[in-house]
Amino acid sequence: MAVASLGDVTAEPGVLGRGRVEGVRCDLRDLHSIAAAVEGLGGIDHLVISAAPARGGTNEGFFDGKFWGTKTAAFAAAERMPEHGTMTFVSGGMAVRPQRGSWAVAAAFAAVEALARALAVEFAPRRVNCIRPGIFDTNTWSHLSADERARFVAEKSASISLQRPGTGEDFGDALLGILGARYLTGQVVVLDGGISLRAD
Ligand SMILES: NC(=O)c1ccc[n+]([C@@H]2O[C@H](COP(=O)([O-])OP(=O)(O)OC[C@H]3O[C@@H](n4cnc5c(N)ncnc54)[C@H](OP(=O)(O)O)[C@@H]3O)[C@@H](O)[C@H]2O)c1
Repeated sequence: MAVASLGDVTAEPGVLGRGRVEGVRCDLRDLHSIAAAVEGLGGIDHLVISAAPARGGTNEGFFDGKFWGTKTAAFAAAERMPEHGTMTFVSGGMAVRPQRGSWAVAAAFAAVEALARALAVEFAPRRVNCIRPGIFDTNTWSHLSADERARFVAEKSASISLQRPGTGEDFGDALLGILGARYLTGQVVVLDGGISLRAD
């Protein structure tokens, strides 16, 4: 399993059974490094890929890293994954509610969700799903100053039904739910504390 951030994912020890949980480092801008990192893992039961290029780069760089990085890791892992294996990708609310000035992020998230559906067919009976997170207070927002970030999180929290940003524990809970839901594939799981229920 490979996860990058979303608040440092946590899960109850032992929930995943006796397997190893491993993170691997590679560069989303270098597709060979992704394939090599995944190949270095040997067998893979569950792949989670959440990494994305930091905001502030080029639009094309964000789209390429997020979409082609996810696709490359998925294809490299599929060759090493047993039929009971799973893949989980990560998109974002902009997949369905784009914001002006963020077309590449919106397009990349929508493409990753479409990829999850397509690969659920392509790699069946392996299961492929996507988590669409809402607001998580992570380094995704590191381009904001500390004050701006605190204000942003506080303002957003007012629109979240659960009144707080998501945490690594929240992400871990959802992930384990997906791994355990053995009839779930090709789906987007909205993990946003209810923020998408609001029109504002
Ligand atoms: N947090 C939110 O509120 C939110 C909302 C909607 C969608 N999302 C999406 O959810 C996903 C995960 O976000 P997050 O909150 O976990 O963000 P994060 O804390 O910033 O984590 C992003 C991860 O991507 C890695 N990364 C950056 N550039 C890379 C590159 N070129 N090659 C390989 N890895 C690279 C970072 O590694 P380093 O730490 O080494 O730089 C970091 O581990 C992203 O796609 C993000 O757009 C997040």
